[in-house]
Amino acid sequence: MALVLKIVFLIFQVMICLVGFESVADARHRQDQKKSSFGDVKDLVTDLPGQPQVKFRHYAGYVTVNEKNGRALFYWFYEATTLPDEKPLVLWLNGGPGCSSVGYGATQEIGPFLVDTDGHGLKFNSYSWNTEANLLFLESPIGVGFSYSNTSGDYDILEDYFAANDSYVFLHKWFLKFPSYRTRKFYIAGESYAGKYVPELAELIHDRNKDPSLFIDLKGIMLGNPETCDAEDWKGMVDYAWSHAVVSDETHKTIKESCDFYSDDPWSNKDCTQGMAEYYRQYNEIDIYSLYTSVCIPSSEGKKSSLVTVRSSSSKMPRVLGGYDPCMDDYAKSYYNRRDVQKALHVGDGTTLIRNWTICNLTVYSNWSYSRTSVLPIYKKLIGAGLRIWVYSGDTDGRVPFLSTRYSLSSLGLPITMAWRPWYHQKQVGGWIQEYEGLTFATFRGAGHAVPIFKRSESLAFFSSFLSGDSLPYQRT
Ligand SMILES: *[C@@H]1O[C@H](CO)[C@@H](O)[C@H](O)[C@H]1NC(C)=O
Ligand SMILES: *[C@@H]1O[C@H](CO)[C@@H](O)[C@H](O)[C@H]1NC(C)=O
Ligand SMILES: *[C@@H]1O[C@H](CO)[C@@H](O)[C@H](O)[C@H]1NC(C)=O
Ligand SMILES: *[C@@H]1O[C@H](CO)[C@@H](O)[C@H](O)[C@H]1NC(C)=O
Ligand SMILES: *[C@@H]1O[C@H](CO)[C@@H](O)[C@H](O)[C@H]1NC(C)=O
Repeated sequence: MALVLKIVFLIFQVMICLVGFESVADARHRQDQKKSSFGDVKDLVTDLPGQPQVKFRHYAGYVTVNEKNGRALFYWFYEATTLPDEKPLVLWLNGGPGCSSVGYGATQEIGPFLVDTDGHGLKFNSYSWNTEANLLFLESPIGVGFSYSNTSGDYDILEDYFAANDSYVFLHKWFLKFPSYRTRKFYIAGESYAGKYVPELAELIHDRNKDPSLFIDLKGIMLGNPETCDAEDWKGMVDYAWSHAVVSDETHKTIKESCDFYSDDPWSNKDCTQGMAEYYRQYNEIDIYSLYTSVCIPSSEGKKSSLVTVRSSSSKMPRVLGGYDPCMDDYAKSYYNRRDVQKALHVGDGTTLIRNWTICNLTVYSNWSYSRTSVLPIYKKLIGAGLRIWVYSGDTDGRVPFLSTRYSLSSLGLPITMAWRPWYHQKQVGGWIQEYEGLTFATFRGAGHAVPIFKRSESLAFFSSFLSGDSLPYQRT
C-alpha cells in the first residue's frame, strides 16, 4: 500500500516537472518569438526619405561604447529579406582607415538601398546581401561617418587595437538591443583596410570566447581586396603597376632595386622615394581602384588635386587610402547630410544638422597611429581554430591588387587542396579560384577594388557560397 502511494506520488511529481518544464519552455518560446519579431523598437527606421518599399525591417542608431568619454558608434542593420530568424548575422566593415561602411558597403556595394546618383533618394538593390543574411553595418571607429566621441583626446589615439576594442564592445551592447541574435551564427566581412580590422576583431572575439558569458558564435571571415601584410602588399602594388602597363620598365627596376619593403623605413632610400613618386604620378592620371574605368571629373574646379591619397612620414610606411569612386562619394554625401535623412536614421532631431557626414574622414586616416604590419599570424590562429576564411580580389584593382594577396597567401605556405581553376557564374568565368587547407582564394574577373559595385550578381553568389561553405561552380553549366 505504502509502495503504491509512493509510486502515485512519484508519478505526480514527474507530471508536475513535465508541466513545469513545458510552461517554462513555452514562455521561453513566446519570449523568443517576441524578441525575434522586434529588435530595439526606437531604432526602427520607418520613414527614410526616398526609400523603396520593402517587406523587411531595418534599424539604425547609436550604441554607446564608452560612457565615461561619451563614445558612440553608429550602425545600420537590415533584417534578411526572408526568414531572418533562420539566417546568420554578418557584420560588414569598410576600410580607410577612416571610411564609412554606410557610405560604401551599405549604399554602394551590398546593401538593399543604393544611393541614386541624383542624390535625392535611394534605389532598390535586388542583389542585396540581405537576401542571404541579416546584415549589420558599423561605422568604426569614432570620427568615421556618424560615429563620434565627446572627448576630443580620443581622436588622438586611434589605431588598430583601439578600433577593435570599441567594435567588440559595440557587438555586446548591440546584442542587448537585439537579443535574438546573441547566439546566432556570426560572420565578419569587409574590404580594403578592413583586411586588418576583420581578422583583428575576429581574434579578439576568439580570445574572449574562452569566457562562456562572452561567447559569440563566430564561424568565419570574408575579405575583399584586403590589406594583409604591408611588405607583400607594396610588392604586389608595384609589380601590378608594371605588369598592367602603368609604370615603365625603368621605374619598376628602380623600385625593385632600391625599396626594401620589409624594412621599417624603405623611404630613407632616395632612389626608392623617387621611383615611388613616379609611380604615384602615373596613378594620379587614372583610378587606382579600378584601372579600366573613367575617372570622376569633379564639377567644381580644383576640388580634388590628387586621385591617390597618400600619407607618408619618414618613420613609417606610407599608406594609401582605401576607398572608391569620388563621384559616387559625393552623391552619398549630399544624401546623408540631409536633415530629414539624419532624423530618420536617429542621428539628429531633424531641426539642425548634427553631424557633417563624409564618406572618408581624412583626419582619422592621417592621424592613424598604429597599424599591424601583418595579420597573417592571425590567419594562422583562426585557421587553427577551424574558422572559415575566404579571400577575394577584384583583378582590376591597383590599390590592393590580387598580386599582393597572392604574395601574402603564398607566404602562409598552406597546402593546396584544389588547384587553380576558373569558377563560373551564369555560364561565364567569374574569375579563378584556389582552395587551400583552411582558406579559399578567388578572383573576380574585371572587378575593381569594391568588387560588389562591379559584379553585383557574381558577388552575391560568392557570398552565398561562403555562408554555406560550398565550392563555387567549376563547370560551365
Ligand atoms: C555627447 O554629448 C551630447 C551633448 O552633451 C549628448 O547629448 C550625448 O548623449 C553625448 N554622447 C554620449 C555617447 O555620451
Ligand atoms: C574627423 O575626425 C576628426 C578626428 O580625427 C574629428 O575631429 C572630426 O569631427 C571628424 N570629422 C567628421 C566630419 O566627422
Ligand atoms: C592628430 O594627432 C596629433 C598627435 O598625434 C594631435 O596633436 C592632433 O590634434 C590630431 N588631430 C586631430 C584633428 O585629431
Ligand atoms: C583593449 O582592451 C583591453 C582589455 O579591456 C585592454 O587591456 C587594452 O588596453 C585595450 N587597448 C586599447 C588600445 O584600448
Ligand atoms: C559642417 O560643415 C560646415 C561647412 O564646412 C560648417 O559651417 C558647419 O558648422 C558644420 N556643421 C557641423 C554640425 O559640424
